[in-house]
Amino acid sequence: MGKDVIIACDFADAETTYAFLSRFTGKKPFVKIGMELFYAEGPAIVREIKRRGHRIFLDLKLHDIPNTVRKAMAVLSRLDVDICNLHAAGTTRMMEAALEGLTRPDGSRPLLIAVTQLTSTDQESMERDLLIRAPIDEVVMHYAENARKAGLDGVVCSPLEAGKVHDRCGASFLTVTPGIRFADGDTGDQKRVTTPALAASLGSDYIVVGRPITAAVDPAAAYERCVREFVK
Ligand code: C5P
Repeated sequence: MGKDVIIACDFADAETTYAFLSRFTGKKPFVKIGMELFYAEGPAIVREIKRRGHRIFLDLKLHDIPNTVRKAMAVLSRLDVDICNLHAAGTTRMMEAALEGLTRPDGSRPLLIAVTQLTSTDQESMERDLLIRAPIDEVVMHYAENARKAGLDGVVCSPLEAGKVHDRCGASFLTVTPGIRFADGDTGDQKRVTTPALAASLGSDYIVVGRPITAAVDPAAAYERCVREFVK
């Protein structure tokens, strides 16, 4: 899979999601389905969006004991999604178990990527709540390296970290990057934002874009603009 734009379908229900997706009459966008939509609608929405011809990043961020994650990933692999994810904080053993579970009898499997430290965690809360005293940038890179050693395909990170992740984990280790805004757009609650073009030049493999597309007057045009700027 080459560089691509993934639309974060952060909608509350299936009806709103299908109405949104029906506005794309050209290329079927790659979409991200998160916890809100999945817990509201269940696996049926994944099957329906697949049936409509979209690729899917199922963003459920698993984190549990290795045995439970292995079995849960086996269930997700049967949904035929393209990318799944988990928390690297669940340990290398959990990530290895996840890969085992995700691998189908024929050897194929969705891509598996790791969340390192959530961007809602900062140095202070990491030290205070988690008793992790290393600098947060080091923690992020250490988690990325653990993910690579476990055999995962990449991480979710900021485009601003994509270069460093590639340096440490290799050029083919995927960086899937949210925090994207058009140069002339609203930043909303995202603090460190990057344009699609800058994300491309910093080495992002996939950009995850929500509101700049979902809240646009013409989502299909905003998507096309994103693809033009990012993929070129
Ligand atoms: O609307 P917006 O473009 O900010 O959406 C970005 C998407 O990426 C959301 O689904 C958000 O939860 C997700 N995300 C993020 N920052 C992270 C990890 C995930 O914005 N560090």
